[in-house]
Amino acid sequence: MAGLRHVLESEIASGKTIGLVPTMGALHEGHASLLKKARGEVDVVVASIYANPTQFNNQDDLAKYPKTESDDLLLLKREQTDVAFFPQTAGIYHGLSTMPINYGVLTETLEGAHRSGHFDGMSTIVRRLFELVAPHRAYFGEKDWQQLAIINRMSSSEDLGVKIIGCEILREPSGLALSSRNIHLSSQEKKAALTISKSVFDIKHRLTRKSLHDTELEITHELKRAGLEPDYVKIVNANTLEALQSETNLGQARLLIAAYSGKTRLLDNGPV
Ligand code: PAJ
Repeated sequence: MAGLRHVLESEIASGKTIGLVPTMGALHEGHASLLKKARGEVDVVVASIYANPTQFNNQDDLAKYPKTESDDLLLLKREQTDVAFFPQTAGIYHGLSTMPINYGVLTETLEGAHRSGHFDGMSTIVRRLFELVAPHRAYFGEKDWQQLAIINRMSSSEDLGVKIIGCEILREPSGLALSSRNIHLSSQEKKAALTISKSVFDIKHRLTRKSLHDTELEITHELKRAGLEPDYVKIVNANTLEALQSETNLGQARLLIAAYSGKTRLLDNGPV
């Protein structure tokens, strides 16, 4: 870690800008799209690879998390990443305990309600990475919309001095949002999962025919009929994630979905 600081401090001293792309590894083209965006905007691209144990509320999920270190390094090299940072728990959590984060609805709803402690662990590690790397910019995917909204709020309310850059969701040609967890899907589970992205693409059209509530119900039923188990299907305010009071606020709204296909939990979202 001292080595990392040393390298980055000399880069900063020579006036270079630093961009950070935090990841948990098992890198795919979604991660690559963040690295590409960073490569085009900053002088020094730092990628961190760390499956942060404190954000996994289910230890099985952590144990099952794919580890593909040598392929990850190839992808980082292909994307011309300057620094690959692989923190170890003993080092990165030295003197650090998980800090609870509470922004009301923003942290409590959706993933907050289904994955207890997840955002506490996530925000703690992101804050720590910001401290260690001191980036000018940090890149996060819209794929994890609630995570991005929380990091935006945290960065402004704690004045972290990092510009947060949100990056579009990268999808397979089928529409399925890329995720490290997709490798666990059988071909049948993958096919069923397309109902999720299809709902994201169809949302504007659906809302021309039905109310918010009926649309959420209709999508939930369709997901179940396809064999998925939805955790939630919600149309909310895109920034605060508060429930919409009426159809008149749709300009600011976003559809967020979490559903299991088999044992694999998938997330997707899109504008309304
Ligand atoms: P991870 O799931 O590895 O994702 C790293 C980054 O890649 C996140 O910002 C995520 O939103 C983005 N990403 C994943 N799939 C994407 C896709 N299909 N299109 C665009 N971006 C995508 O998110 C985490 O790790 C962790 O919570 C982390 C922020 C690293 C903190 O531990």
